[in-house]
Amino acid sequence: MGKILIANWKMNLSEQASYDLARQYTKELHDQPDLEIVVAPSFPCLYRVGHVFKDTEIHLAAQDVAIAEKGAYTGGVSASMLAELDCRYSLVGHSERRQYFGETDEMIQRKLNQCYAAGITPVLCIGENALEKSAGQRDAVLAHQLKSALENVMTLPNNHLLIAYEPIWAIGTGNVMESEEMQAVDRLLKRIISSLYSEKFYDEFVRLLYGGSVSSINAGSFWAEESVDGLLVASASLEIDSFVSIAEQGRK
Ligand code: PGA
Repeated sequence: MGKILIANWKMNLSEQASYDLARQYTKELHDQPDLEIVVAPSFPCLYRVGHVFKDTEIHLAAQDVAIAEKGAYTGGVSASMLAELDCRYSLVGHSERRQYFGETDEMIQRKLNQCYAAGITPVLCIGENALEKSAGQRDAVLAHQLKSALENVMTLPNNHLLIAYEPIWAIGTGNVMESEEMQAVDRLLKRIISSLYSEKFYDEFVRLLYGGSVSSINAGSFWAEESVDGLLVASASLEIDSFVSIAEQGRK
């Protein structure tokens, strides 16, 4: 399986700016064998950006998904709506959703279930904050976030799962983790997932991504890590040259 590069545009671009950047992506990134490129624009831009990517190898992701299938959830966007718009993936539990939108473990579980019901592969985001890191609690935080997200997700282990390890202290700060640290994170997640399901499930169905201040300068060291199956990039994905450079370094 090749590696995966996900651009998270967050709430940064107007519809026109999203369209323009999508066109630049298709121009510059059309030939990326062994690297799957995925873009997560904001909801109102999914349709138009999806249209730009239509006959390309670039796939769409949503930045979030609703906790329920349909009904009285004002402002919600359901997994089946996202599937209709050709989203192949959805981020779930991004730290900004947890922090600013009060997303709880229970909501994250429900979102995972919604994704699987609609045929969307979730990208479950986990990560410790600076305080937890300095208190040496990284592993405990990750174990808790992972176990509580996966509890009651009945469709596993028969589906693919992407896990994005995004230390909160590294997101948008320029502080980047040592790439070798990913080996320890990989071992930890493998131990947890193997105990919940099986080692085979982890090896064959789970992919581990790193996110947090990835740039054209540091991307190479992450791509070189065997434990890293992909990268989740926000700030550096908004600028075509840096994103192309990150992608090019990810090609085998
Ligand atoms: P960043 O954000 O690349 O701007 O650090 C990553 C993310 O939040 O997904």
